[in-house]
Amino acid sequence: MADQNDLESQLDAIRQEATQAIAQSDSLDQLEQLRVKYMGKKGPIPQVLGGMGKLDPAERPKIGARANEVKEAIQLELDRKKTDLQKAAIEAQLAAETIDVTMPGVGRPQGRLHPLNSTIDQVLDIFVGLGYTVAEGPEMETDYYNFEALNFLPDHPARDMQDTLYLPDGNLLRTHTSPVQIRYMEANDPPIRVAVPGKTYRRDTVDATHSAVFHQIEILAVDEGLTFTDLKGTIKVFLQELFGEVEIRFRPSFFPFTEPSAEVDVKWKGRWLEILGCGMVDPNVLKAVGYDPEVYTGFAAGFGVERLAMVLHQIDDIRRLYNSDLRFLKQF
Ligand code: DAH
Repeated sequence: MADQNDLESQLDAIRQEATQAIAQSDSLDQLEQLRVKYMGKKGPIPQVLGGMGKLDPAERPKIGARANEVKEAIQLELDRKKTDLQKAAIEAQLAAETIDVTMPGVGRPQGRLHPLNSTIDQVLDIFVGLGYTVAEGPEMETDYYNFEALNFLPDHPARDMQDTLYLPDGNLLRTHTSPVQIRYMEANDPPIRVAVPGKTYRRDTVDATHSAVFHQIEILAVDEGLTFTDLKGTIKVFLQELFGEVEIRFRPSFFPFTEPSAEVDVKWKGRWLEILGCGMVDPNVLKAVGYDPEVYTGFAAGFGVERLAMVLHQIDDIRRLYNSDLRFLKQF
């Protein structure tokens, strides 16, 4: 006959051994192995229970109950340990991923817009606000778009106004953004409101107010019934938006593609500074693109972006805009 006490002490020993092993385990894998080992069907508890057949039947329920107690106790230990190990794993992960916010950062110099680009953006914003579309055209042009269609006749003395850079193939670098007027009108029907920013080129000797490459913004409006008053009002509103209250004056001038023509000066540092040319689009220009000058009239203007930037930012020498001196550029 098996001894009841003997089976009980075997169960106690299993419990003790399992408790110890669980306490010592330090990974979830290891814990899972212990679970299989102690709680599985081939574990030590069923083995002990197998010995019950030899017991006095009256004793059996006691041993059964005891075995269940031991199983529950071991399961409880397993669960507790599992929770502990999971918590520890999360804590270890958090510790490993902690960012030291007091560590000094790597300084990266902040980029910014060049004053010419920010001036172009400002000007375009104003014209977009007035209902204009923005368009661009090529920097390499043909004689036709740069001169002929703009009413510069082949022997017209006005061609002398432009110190043109010609390319070996007979093309040229555009001397102004006005050729885009022609390109835009060829591609679109009136009414037209367009603003055109771009680079322009001339054979100028570089000095404080001249550069061989410079920037213009052209505006063109074509519609029925546009008059010089519309041109004047547009220019006035634009300059006020850009500069705030500033003294301006219109001076009669001449351009082959406008009639009448004017130049506009702003009072800057006590002197008049010319910043744009403008006028009513010459009927010959409208004819060149197939618009009927009896129906449509238009006005146009060309702004020197460098001049606008110099006035906006109190820049005394145009060369500062080109020589990429960071001490200068960082001020914007
Ligand atoms: N294209 C002229 C220049 O570069 C500037 C100009 C004058 C543009 C009168 C215009 C205009 O649109 O109407 O000197």
